[in-house]
Order: sequence, then C-alpha cells, then structure tokens
Amino acid sequence: MKPIIALTKGRLENQFIEFLESLDYEVDPILKKGRKLRIETEIFEFIFAKGPDVATYVEHGIADLGIVGGDILAEFHPDVFNLFPLPFGHCRMAVATEKGKVWSNKKKKIASKYTGITKEYFRNKDESVDIIKLEGSVELAPILGLADGIVDIVETGTTLKENGLVVQEEFFSFSARCIANRSSLKIKRDVLSPIIASFQKQEDYV
Ligand code: PRP
Repeated sequence: MKPIIALTKGRLENQFIEFLESLDYEVDPILKKGRKLRIETEIFEFIFAKGPDVATYVEHGIADLGIVGGDILAEFHPDVFNLFPLPFGHCRMAVATEKGKVWSNKKKKIASKYTGITKEYFRNKDESVDIIKLEGSVELAPILGLADGIVDIVETGTTLKENGLVVQEEFFSFSARCIANRSSLKIKRDVLSPIIASFQKQEDYV
C-alpha cells in the first residue's frame, strides 16, 4: 500500500512540489493534476485539501502524513504527531492595523481567521477584545471599518502593504510542518520511515 500524504492546497503545495523535486521524487503527476484532488505517483498517493482539513484527514487516519502550516496546528490542535518543521512556508503571525492607527481606550475589535490564536494572544496580554471571525481577505476589515485591526499570517508582507496596513506586533514564527497519523506511524513504519528520513534531510534543500 502506498503511503497517503495530505497536502495543503495553494502556496504550500507549490513549495512542497519544489521540495519534493529537490529530493528527486517524481512530481510530474502533481504538476499535471489539473483539478483532481487525489492522484498517485510511483511512490505516493496524494490528496489535496485546505490546511484545517489536511489535519483532519491525518487525525482520522485517512492520510498517513500531512503537510500543513504551523498556524493550523496552533489554531486547531489536532490529535496528530507533529513530526518536524519543513524548510519552506516560513511565515509570522502578526497584529496589523491601518498605517498611523492610534488605538483608542475602547475595547478593540480584531478580525481574524485565527480566532483561537487571537484569543490566546490577547489573553496572554491580559486584554479583553472582541474577535470577529472572517474566512479570508481579512485585510479588508480595518479598511472598511469592520475592525480596528487584524491577526493574520504575514509571509512576504505584500498583502499588508498593498492594502495600506502595517504590522504592529509579530508574535509567532512558523514554517510548514510534517505531521503523521498516530497509528500509521506504528502500522506502516517500514514504508513511512525512509520517507520521513528523506524529508528530514534538509541540508540538501536550497
Ligand atoms: C494569506 C494571509 C494574507 C496573505 C499574506 O492569505 O491571510 O492575506 O496570505 O501573504 P503575504 O504576506 O505574502 O502577502 P491567503 O493568500 O492564504 O488567502 P486568504 O486571504 O483567502 O486567506
């Protein structure tokens, strides 16, 4: 049985393909997958899902391994083995506001996709805030007056910049991570061990 790897679609997917290629694994079927959400290479079966769902598929043992951002693990705390960081997907979690924003004394309204991380961040500061859950494009919230600021991931900083926002505070750095289903690691040890070992051989990756 081929090992099943759940991949986060989008940016991490592209970076993971480059990473696989650098390790001399076959990537052609992934590059040619079109809109397919499940494909096979000679060695692997891949499924493609959104970050939180990658964690869910791995937690439930549908996938043996998962490639997911550290942000997803911090937000959802899935019951998986959080194996090791991968050398791509480097981001920071930050509080951002409109440029020149002066906080008033009123309770802050913070928009985020990451309500758990936001709650924990402000709880650690002993500050009570109203959290507004959004599903994406959170940079719109301060611009349109829905919130005073946002908590979101920053990778290149381009999205903030192009929308007139600036970082007030960065509080958590992370990268992509390799996660594993708890039972798979025992049951499929023979097939997973060499793959895990190759993913950890990061010195070969430029
Ligand atoms: C993420 C994040 C920011 C952006 C940051 O959004 O929420 O909007 O990337 O990246 P940057 O610093 O390189 O500009 P994503 O692209 O995942 O889409 P979303 O807005 O739909 O969540």
